[in-house]
Amino acid sequence: MSTAVQDLMSSPPVTCPADATLAEATSLMDRRQIGSVVVTDAGGVVGILTERDLLRAAATEIDPHAEPVLRWMTADPDVVGVDDEVDAAWSGLTHHHYRHLPVVDHGDLVGVVSMRDLLTVAQIRPAGEAGADVPRGLEGVVVAETSIGDVRGQQGFYHYRQYSAVDLAASRSLEDIWLLLFDGALPDRGRARDFAAQVAGLRALPPVLAGLLPAVAATGSPLDALRTAVSLLGAESGWPPGLDIDATERRAQALRLCAVVPTILTAVHRLRRGLAPIPPRADLSFAANYLWMLSGEEAPPAHVRAVEQYLILTIDHGFNASTFTARVIASTGADLAAAIVGAIGALSGPLHGGAPSRALAMLDDIGSPDRAEAWIRDAVIRGDRIMGFGHRVYKTDDPRSVFLRGVARSLGGDLVDFAEQVEHTTVEVLAELKPGRQLYTNVEFFAGVVMHTCGIPRDMFTPTFACSRTIGWTTHVMEQAADNRLIRPAARYAGPPPPQPVPAP
Ligand SMILES: CC(C)(COP(=O)(O)OP(=O)(O)OC[C@H]1O[C@@H](n2cnc3c(N)ncnc32)[C@H](O)[C@@H]1OP(=O)(O)O)[C@@H](O)C(=O)NCCC(=O)NCCS
Repeated sequence: MSTAVQDLMSSPPVTCPADATLAEATSLMDRRQIGSVVVTDAGGVVGILTERDLLRAAATEIDPHAEPVLRWMTADPDVVGVDDEVDAAWSGLTHHHYRHLPVVDHGDLVGVVSMRDLLTVAQIRPAGEAGADVPRGLEGVVVAETSIGDVRGQQGFYHYRQYSAVDLAASRSLEDIWLLLFDGALPDRGRARDFAAQVAGLRALPPVLAGLLPAVAATGSPLDALRTAVSLLGAESGWPPGLDIDATERRAQALRLCAVVPTILTAVHRLRRGLAPIPPRADLSFAANYLWMLSGEEAPPAHVRAVEQYLILTIDHGFNASTFTARVIASTGADLAAAIVGAIGALSGPLHGGAPSRALAMLDDIGSPDRAEAWIRDAVIRGDRIMGFGHRVYKTDDPRSVFLRGVARSLGGDLVDFAEQVEHTTVEVLAELKPGRQLYTNVEFFAGVVMHTCGIPRDMFTPTFACSRTIGWTTHVMEQAADNRLIRPAARYAGPPPPQPVPAP
């Protein structure tokens, strides 16, 4: 490329004032059929607002007529000089994954150059003429329709089917909600009893998996072992590709998988400690049996209910990374085990499955309430993240954390009091040192406190989460299969423009 930016740029640039609202900027972009608008103040460039920013905003419940562009634009954007060669603009755009760059001449805004302009000169056609700007990480992008549930981040609300998840956790059993997800309706007492008995009968490990589990458990973390074990379960059970089975068979497989995951995980946990696995008991509920298989002792009813409520709260949560992974794999027609192995893999990443144990480690480190403020303040100033605070979707109280705080309180104990003191201090310090970021307690903070109080060891926190999320994943696999189309998005090529001559070896 030897063309200069001024040969390609759109000029004059379309601008909007810094005090414009999102609605005004959107209407301007719509009228002018452009994908971005440069935000100016006193003649200078202060930001750029793109379709990507609008998509992010649209995913929230803000009022676009009241919302200032200043909150959503990219402030102080990179710019490119009018006489610069196209290569400079190309690398500016591709390096930061931008789609538009303001063009300046001696500091004055004179135009905008877009990825599409550069692709024209490179004679590369975009993947599709209708290709839209997509935010990094697909944030806010709607990729499917679902009737399973949703998360409303601004309102601090999420639901399973038509019911508030928190209301369900307060009043129903895990098995009831399992049925609600699988079949779309809450059961009456008789149906609930039958279902609980049916799934309790599916908990035992199959023989080949049981024989191989000691070797599987000996390597890696419990979640690594679960990944391998689910793969073995699918193979041993002879589960055919999802494309070749009907909804009834898929549901039967899903029931079996959800029932056996806690047995696998608790067996792995015990084998890793040199202890014999404890066989499941069909007379206990999902949660009671989980705690039984973990320790070999019947847990107190308060602990069983607390753990059951934690499990209910974590069954599903929108199109999180592992759920999306499960649906992508299911969309290829692969078998159920393949979809769930992929989902477990996604969950194991620290950015997703999180680490409720880290929040607890923080409490250990703080040690006493009088040290909390200095500890948190130092950590935030150092640039560290405070574990158990902040959320991508919730910009207000995470409803799971509010509920679990209540559960923790009802369990009582020194740790709970201490955790509440640290929570209070952390929210205050974050509000002071990170103003406007809307950082509140997330599910991880009190999840760790509740699980610890109920005797679940720290390395089983995320695996416990996997037990309940398997119900969510398998529900999504069934929904995907019921109205399937292969999920196969496109990527926008952003490397050096082809075709280049292939150098001789
Ligand atoms: C959950 C999380 C990854 C969401 O992050 P996100 O939506 O991408 O938020 P961002 O990374 O854009 O952060 C926005 C700002 O808030 C700050 N912030 C976010 N979470 C924070 C936390 N827990 N502690 C301190 N600062 C935090 C960031 O440093 C950033 O500040 P800046 O604008 O000065 O750079 C993030 O809040 C986090 O890392 N929390 C701690 C880990 C945790 O609890 N994970 C479990 C989640 S359920």
